[in-house]
Amino acid sequence: MKSISFEQFNSNIFELWDKQWFLLTSGDFASGQYNTMTVSWGFFGIMWNKPMAVVVVRPVRHTFAFIEKYDTFTLSAFPDKYHNDLKLLGTKSGRDSDKIAETDLRICASQKIAAPAFEQAELRVECKKMYWDDFKPERFLDADIEKNYPRKDYHRIYYGEILHISGTEKYLVK
Ligand SMILES: Cc1cc2nc3c(=O)[nH]c(=O)nc-3n(C[C@H](O)[C@H](O)[C@H](O)COP(=O)(O)O)c2cc1C
Repeated sequence: MKSISFEQFNSNIFELWDKQWFLLTSGDFASGQYNTMTVSWGFFGIMWNKPMAVVVVRPVRHTFAFIEKYDTFTLSAFPDKYHNDLKLLGTKSGRDSDKIAETDLRICASQKIAAPAFEQAELRVECKKMYWDDFKPERFLDADIEKNYPRKDYHRIYYGEILHISGTEKYLVK
């Protein structure tokens, strides 16, 4: 894993979010207080002149309590062979069991922030929370959006400043 500057970062962003997915992890590595879940909705971009990751978390998720309480979070992407682990971490809740222990993935410290990441990741993005808001259904301008919320559990959206990226060669501009 190498440190990757924003200028050097290279990926098919749509494929990365939609097909490969991330683990969103929030909490504090040092005290052992953290949780993780799979995410595929979100994006990377620039806001307030800073590189930003945007993630959305439904309030019913166990991870929600952690991202609310702690200042930092990570996004970790993995090689294909761990896809079933991401499926498991995206269907089971850390509220009910030690779901990470049921996978081949192992938690590790981040380089710049308190929130942990994963040893087996091929890409780690370290973020500091900058802003949050709740989706307001009365502002949905397309009726199809509401279909994502049969239980009215509208996501909370978080903007995180990207403080550090590390990844394999695959994520470096050639
Ligand atoms: C491919 C995939 C993508 C997901 N994306 C999101 C997401 O962007 N936001 C969200 O709130 N939940 C998302 N989920 C659902 C959570 O990962 C899932 O409910 C998880 O079990 C929550 O774990 P927790 O209760 O330990 O936080 C996704 C699940 C999968 C399988």
